[in-house]
Amino acid sequence: MDYKKLISEIVNIDGVSGEEIYAAVAVPPKRENGEYCLPCFKFSKALKMPPAAIADKLKETVKLPPEIASVESVAGYLNFKLDRVRFAECGLRAAAARGADFASKPANGKTVCLDYSSINIAKPFHIGHLLTTAIGGSLYRIFGYLGYTAVGINHLGDWGTQFGKLVSAYKRWGDDADINARGVTALMELYVKFHAEAEKDPALEEEGRYYFKKIEDGDKETVAVFERFKELTLKEVRKIYERLGIEFDSYAGESFYNDKMQPVIDELSDKGLLTESEGAKVVDLGDCGMPPCLILKKDGATLYATRDLAAAQYRHDTYGFYKSLYVVAYQQDLHFKQVFKVLEKMGREWAKDCVHVPFGMVSLEGGAALSTRKGNVVLLKDVLSTAVEKAEKIICEKNPDLKDRNEVAEAVGVGAIVFSALSASRIKDMVFSYDKALSFDGETAPYLQYTHARCASILQKGGKTDIEPDNVDWSVLCDDESIDVITLINRFDAVVEEAAEKYEPCFISRYLLDLAQSFNRFYINRRVVTDDAATTSARLLLTSCVKAVIKNGLKLLLIKAPERM
Ligand code: ARG
Repeated sequence: MDYKKLISEIVNIDGVSGEEIYAAVAVPPKRENGEYCLPCFKFSKALKMPPAAIADKLKETVKLPPEIASVESVAGYLNFKLDRVRFAECGLRAAAARGADFASKPANGKTVCLDYSSINIAKPFHIGHLLTTAIGGSLYRIFGYLGYTAVGINHLGDWGTQFGKLVSAYKRWGDDADINARGVTALMELYVKFHAEAEKDPALEEEGRYYFKKIEDGDKETVAVFERFKELTLKEVRKIYERLGIEFDSYAGESFYNDKMQPVIDELSDKGLLTESEGAKVVDLGDCGMPPCLILKKDGATLYATRDLAAAQYRHDTYGFYKSLYVVAYQQDLHFKQVFKVLEKMGREWAKDCVHVPFGMVSLEGGAALSTRKGNVVLLKDVLSTAVEKAEKIICEKNPDLKDRNEVAEAVGVGAIVFSALSASRIKDMVFSYDKALSFDGETAPYLQYTHARCASILQKGGKTDIEPDNVDWSVLCDDESIDVITLINRFDAVVEEAAEKYEPCFISRYLLDLAQSFNRFYINRRVVTDDAATTSARLLLTSCVKAVIKNGLKLLLIKAPERM
């Protein structure tokens, strides 16, 4: 029920459109003034009347529909009080009709490409990858829920001279048994060793280039070695994706575009966009206040940007996207500005639909920023395991008899990590703390999961197994606490829309925290299971609707909601 719309339909002001009235309807800051208000000073100019006189006049002329109980004119405001019984009934009936698992919206025919996680082969999956993975994975679910066709793309970093070096290091010092046992860590060490040795023996660099050339030329044996490294990396990372509930529709990485860049380069050249700079080929972007975009190195090798240009074109041709999102750290801001600008210069009108969705940095509480180069990497799998261990300890203390303890600890521990990545605005740098993330009464996933489990236990106590309204006395839901909860429940879809529009899963996180707090206020002040069947039934229905919203909201944030904790 859109009450703003309803109010804009019943209020008529000469010379002011329904849309203007709709836009002006607000929520009064003070609860005693009702649920909605119309600030009349906004129309003073048009009507050449003081606000109080306008409000007085409107109060006399407005015809109230059954949904609205009363209207008052107070200090230039027209204040509306809803018929709360009706509001509670409509709100909860609508919420209950959605059931326990919300269906996605009907397909809207629009496709959104999402490039996220996009890991580099033979590099460890560290906590720095958490944000792109969690934000991208959540947006993937959000767009899917809203009826878009979401295409998840892991744009693997699987091309570059470093892989020639890695093969060279492997040929010299590689130990298959060790690589099989320690995976990416062993590969990483080989790579580090290569650099150390190359300092002493510069000929190694030449060897690295030699092997990369072999990969480029498709030499069977070398490619096979490299493919094995790739498989190894993906095998490790897939385990983490599984724990996080992350999915991809495509793993087309940088190497996938090897044979797709020439047309782009030719077109740039034909359109006179390619200029020479110190032997390299670039697109000059000086007119847009940006440094030139590098397309070809002196030796003719392609670059990161060349691959992204080909990738953007490929995504456009393959998926016909409505939006193409790149969930990548803000450090790559310039890169994406350049790539999108070059596309624009090539005459791609869809360049405007390519969006960089940037985010800040992650660091550990009390620790330095996490970088691969300095070697002080904190692996995401270790962070997840630590969180799960800690969660298990907490659960043991709180609920020693819990049946599926391992499963719950996994959901709580992993959920805590993911939520900490999704609870603040993307662009903020994030300082991660286990204790804060795992707190059961902070702004955390465990708090939401706990509230969900509390709902489950209340429902169980009340013997309610479904989410149907039956034998409900709606009038018991007219107190402020209940009305607040019902108002929030019905905001779910609007919040998800806003999250999609701004590419901010944290809108959903904050909303769920509000809802949980609101429900907990209700729960402290009202007995749910009482002697009166119709009262109990009303409050149980409200509880089951809250439970459904928390569960489905958490799902959009990649977080599981156990029934017991
Ligand atoms: N692999 C890159 C990195 O780790 C991120 C790739 C992002 N996606 C893209 N299309 N450029 O920095």
